[in-house]
Amino acid sequence: MTEKFYTLGIETSCDDTGVAVLNNDNEVLCEFLSSQIKDHSKFGGVIPEFAARKHLENLLPLVDAALKECNLKGNELNLIAVTCGPGLMGSLIVGVQTAKALSQVWRVPLIGVNHIEGHLFAPLVEAKNLEPPFLSLIVSGGHTEIIEVKNFGDYKLLGETRDDAAGEAYDKAAKILGLNYPGGPEIDRLAKNGNPYAFNFPIPLKNTHEIEFSFSGLKTALLWQGEKFQEQNQIIPEQKIEDLCASFQRAVTEALISKINLAVKLTGIKKVTASGGVLANSALREALMNDKNFKVWLPELKRCTDNAVMIAMAGRNSFKRGNFSRDEVVVNPSLNI
Ligand code: KG4
Ligand code: ZN
Repeated sequence: MTEKFYTLGIETSCDDTGVAVLNNDNEVLCEFLSSQIKDHSKFGGVIPEFAARKHLENLLPLVDAALKECNLKGNELNLIAVTCGPGLMGSLIVGVQTAKALSQVWRVPLIGVNHIEGHLFAPLVEAKNLEPPFLSLIVSGGHTEIIEVKNFGDYKLLGETRDDAAGEAYDKAAKILGLNYPGGPEIDRLAKNGNPYAFNFPIPLKNTHEIEFSFSGLKTALLWQGEKFQEQNQIIPEQKIEDLCASFQRAVTEALISKINLAVKLTGIKKVTASGGVLANSALREALMNDKNFKVWLPELKRCTDNAVMIAMAGRNSFKRGNFSRDEVVVNPSLNI
């Protein structure tokens, strides 16, 4: 029988407090997520100090609940994996300091995990046997990048956004249209009743030969359409909002699909994974699954957005590669992959 190995994952990089426990086979024994979306949506975005305070309130009760659910004591864990960056400074500090304290009290090894590497592992929760090399499209509120996974731990950034991340663009577009935060799910929902060809938004950087993204111009194009109604002292009719959402979503999706195709062409790698909050988007998921130029592995919907399972997976993999740390885990809000 293989020896038991339990990994506790902790994620607090932004506004979701996540805790999860994995067993030796990387099976999810339990996962808890406390979302602060309702708290922040009334402000139209994440308030960093408030997020940190909420993590402080939520984290230890979630760790207790997770251990109880798995019938484990803290000192029976074999590894604690915690997000150490990139993300919001205050939020990261709460997670890392808590993890350091637990690691010392329980005498359990601690490993710091790059949040982006965490997203990269999200599809592997289901696709356990997927081996590198593969390409990984990471599209979240803070990042839009394509990474070549040469091996686990050996990553090459092939391209990223020049300005806004795609999730950020969704959130800003939603704000322009008077929709709630976070904007991605709202636009996704309204786009279902809209015509994606009603507005001819530009597909950013579609025809360049670089793997690169830009979403700020698209947001401005949407703003102009909204202003046309304001100039005539009109509120935007509901059908037009749905059309704007569908057209905006089509433009973002086409930009992402065109560059993943370029990356496949340039590298010759036809295995693609994708992850990050924007991968919860129905149009993007469909476009990736229907693309015949590559085979794609996507995370379950609930593991596209921030969660602790992906952090535990990435930490466990890194630990297997010989990395671990205790007091040296350093918070770095702008950590790169
Ligand atoms: O990965 P994530 O939870 O946090 C970051 O690391 O940023 O991603 C959050 C982002 C937000 O910008 C949100 O609007 C976007 O993911 N998002 C979506 C959808 N669900 C969440 N964007 C488009 N369509 C969705 N269904
Ligand atoms: Zn994230």
